Amino acid sequence: LPAESVIRGGGPGRSSRPAVSVAALRGAGSPAPGGTVRRHVLTANKATVRLRSGREVDAWTFNGEVPGPAITATEGDLIEVRLRNADIDGGVTLHWHGYDVPCGEDGTPGVSQLAVGPGEDFVYRFRADQVGTYWYHTHYASHIGVRKGLYGTLVVKPRGGQRADEQSAAEQVDLTLPVHTFDGAVLIAGSDERSEHPASPGTPVRLRVINTDSGPHRIVLAGTPFRVAAVDGRELNQPDEVSEVGLHLPAGGRHDLVFLMPDRPVALVVDDDRDGELRLRPHGGPPGDAPIEDTSDLPELDLLRYGAPVAAPFDTRNADRHFTMVLDRGLAMVDGRPAYAHTVNGRGHPAIPDQLVAEGDIVRFTVVNRSLETHPWHLHGHPVLILSRDGAPSIGSPLWVDTFDVRPGETWEVAFRADNPGIWMNHCHNLPHAHQGMMLRLRYD
Ligand code: C2O
Ligand code: CU
Repeated sequence: LPAESVIRGGGPGRSSRPAVSVAALRGAGSPAPGGTVRRHVLTANKATVRLRSGREVDAWTFNGEVPGPAITATEGDLIEVRLRNADIDGGVTLHWHGYDVPCGEDGTPGVSQLAVGPGEDFVYRFRADQVGTYWYHTHYASHIGVRKGLYGTLVVKPRGGQRADEQSAAEQVDLTLPVHTFDGAVLIAGSDERSEHPASPGTPVRLRVINTDSGPHRIVLAGTPFRVAAVDGRELNQPDEVSEVGLHLPAGGRHDLVFLMPDRPVALVVDDDRDGELRLRPHGGPPGDAPIEDTSDLPELDLLRYGAPVAAPFDTRNADRHFTMVLDRGLAMVDGRPAYAHTVNGRGHPAIPDQLVAEGDIVRFTVVNRSLETHPWHLHGHPVLILSRDGAPSIGSPLWVDTFDVRPGETWEVAFRADNPGIWMNHCHNLPHAHQGMMLRLRYD
């Protein structure tokens, strides 16, 4: 193993551990056989961005764009991104949301690196071994930086092309659609007004919807039956065809929606806003009427009862560690001063004790929400398996997620395998909540 990958793969928490581990190997400095190196330079700078409607907004951007450049790769490629900070005071990092990179690439300031200040740069390097829909964002003062535009998408496609049930890549429509609120308007893929895309009837379509905001969005796909093929980048097992349902997409979450293009229009509607919808129009056909007039009272699809079960890869009842996190509001220190803040077990970051695990542990979390707000819970570096919501077990396809929405009064149980050594943030992805203290660290001892 080259010395560099040992160092790069190691987080601060592993300095006394043997050099070779799964995480270190995943951080190897070369692509898998047959893969290529995908190099990008992302320069963070302040810029005026012109939206589709012509409106100009002051943003914080990567390379002058919001969202930042789309990063795409094929499974096994090496992704190498040089982050430069031109003029963002305070600093910037890149966190690969949902992507289980080695700890040293995770982009958490004060934990895996220092924030990259104006005039500085930092290179991230990791193998694209995880297929699916992800995103990246700054993790420094992210409650400001992400909202202002420091985010982009990361999509990794399987090696060997399409799966058997899909046609050739040229005939597919595959759209990556980050949803982001900017100055009060909800933008789909950076567009602040209705957009149209042509698609030939019969074409396989995949819409990768990404919530880059701090609160949930309600997603409706109108005009066609469809399947939720993947949640948070991970494919579901035998997802059923559904139609006329609403999808609850937590902050930070992703849903991949797949269907065959019908011979009439299809609309992707976010938060029932018909003026901002994305519309697919049958190729060569007339613009057509809006599918479904009123999307607001469609029932919500329960993903815990969707698709077919598969046995978990570990015994979820016998966890090596079990942590309970009670989410609430209360007095805690914020920025060095006592404040009425978002708390975990009655405390705010950094006064919340670290959660200690050992490599190989099966870890169980119980997350209880005693507050009146929804908390999208997010663990870095590991997907978690949903076990139950308010005592109702997950009985559909295994749901491996990186963020789950714990609504007021709810209790969620999740489990994961501690297989990625390092120090990892474990926090609410409502980013202002995280800033106010709803954040702690999971650390391998
Ligand atoms: Cu997408 Cu710690 O965050
Ligand atoms: Cu929260």
